[in-house]
Amino acid sequence: MKKILKLAPSILSADFSVLKNEINSVANADYLHIDVMDGMFVENISLGIPVIKSIRKVTDLIFDVHLMIDEPRRYIKQFANAGADIITIHAEASDDLKGDLKMIKSFNKKAGVAIKPNTSLDAINDVLDLADMFLIMSVEPGFGGQKLIDFTLQKALSLSKIVCDKDIEMDGGINLENVESVLKSGVNVIVVGSAIFNCDDRNKKINRFREKFMEYENQA
Ligand code: DX5
Ligand code: ZN
Repeated sequence: MKKILKLAPSILSADFSVLKNEINSVANADYLHIDVMDGMFVENISLGIPVIKSIRKVTDLIFDVHLMIDEPRRYIKQFANAGADIITIHAEASDDLKGDLKMIKSFNKKAGVAIKPNTSLDAINDVLDLADMFLIMSVEPGFGGQKLIDFTLQKALSLSKIVCDKDIEMDGGINLENVESVLKSGVNVIVVGSAIFNCDDRNKKINRFREKFMEYENQA
């Protein structure tokens, strides 16, 4: 089955002093990727529930919320109420992955499960049917602007052969130069932080990514 390719700019690389404008500058994307960090699961703290609630008012983009927090179940309800559309939790951060994904779905949200670069696919074996989306981290979570770790592409490819009809997202170090190899690995949801927000004309940059999507689809 042919999956729809989606682009998800990550606001972690945006200028938070003008967040509304930054979000509007990527309005032609598919998702808005929102990284939530707790300073425990990862060595960084980003933004949280009040910010998501506020920015919900300024855009209709689908909110793809990536929770890099320990024991995510403590906050799933609040992120659902704040306006998340997709809530992704880390397999490494949950001791009841099935229960947590079911909780996300109970709020009528799409449930995603993420794994860090060195976490094997075995960690998500039990939720292959339950999860709506699988996020393969292509950098160590915590910071934007890192280099994509090549071996994670192989992991995505293996997963894509097992879960043919589900969304596979990749996050970290993706740019115009390597996006083709990411797509070839069976990924259909592309998160891009610095490669979009570090340039002035986001609209143009997003269109360049879409051209790459089209080239890939025409080859396939
Ligand atoms: C890293 C975050 C990413 C980050 C990606 O922990 O999950 O979403 O913003 O940024 P780039 O594309 O710059 O690697
Ligand atoms: Zn992310």
